[in-house]
Amino acid sequence: MARATNLPKFTVPSMSLQDGARVARTLQERLNALNDLALTLKHIHWNVVGPHFIAVHQMLDPQVDAVRVMVDATAERIATLGASPVGTPGALVAERTWDDYSIGRAGAIEHLGALDEVYGGVITAHRAAAADTEENDPVTNDLLIGHLHELELFQWFVRAHLESSTGTLSTEGATTEQGAAREASPRES
Ligand SMILES: [Fe+2]
Repeated sequence: MARATNLPKFTVPSMSLQDGARVARTLQERLNALNDLALTLKHIHWNVVGPHFIAVHQMLDPQVDAVRVMVDATAERIATLGASPVGTPGALVAERTWDDYSIGRAGAIEHLGALDEVYGGVITAHRAAAADTEENDPVTNDLLIGHLHELELFQWFVRAHLESSTGTLSTEGATTEQGAAREASPRES
């Protein structure tokens, strides 16, 4: 769990100020990731091209809406814990541990290969945060588990485009957005 820095003046009943601050710090990292994800999904929505344009363009807006609801609930949980949620873009960029999404105008399948990597990173960190908060704050744990229900479903929506009839992902083994985009891209024959 993240280290507590500034102690809040209050937090939720039955939690220590130290635990409230630690959970809020963990949630701030998730807030940064979700804000980044909402912007990245819109970036893909605007930059996708090719014959599958409309399907992917339209699939992404409900995901943006759902992630923005997660953003709001996460920020309000931080405030409920007695801390101050930071929602400004400069702070997000200064604190994040990942790079900007690296693909501009590109075909639907390339973007979906890369987006699978993005969802993989967000979900892995969200699961770690859920595990970290399970004992100290079951309410925050429940919030994060609720997000994971949707995030993992959305990753499946993406992966279904990359999956063969034998259940294999075309991006299997890729570890970067660019690598996954390359693997997902249909081969010239
Ligand atoms: Fe739009």
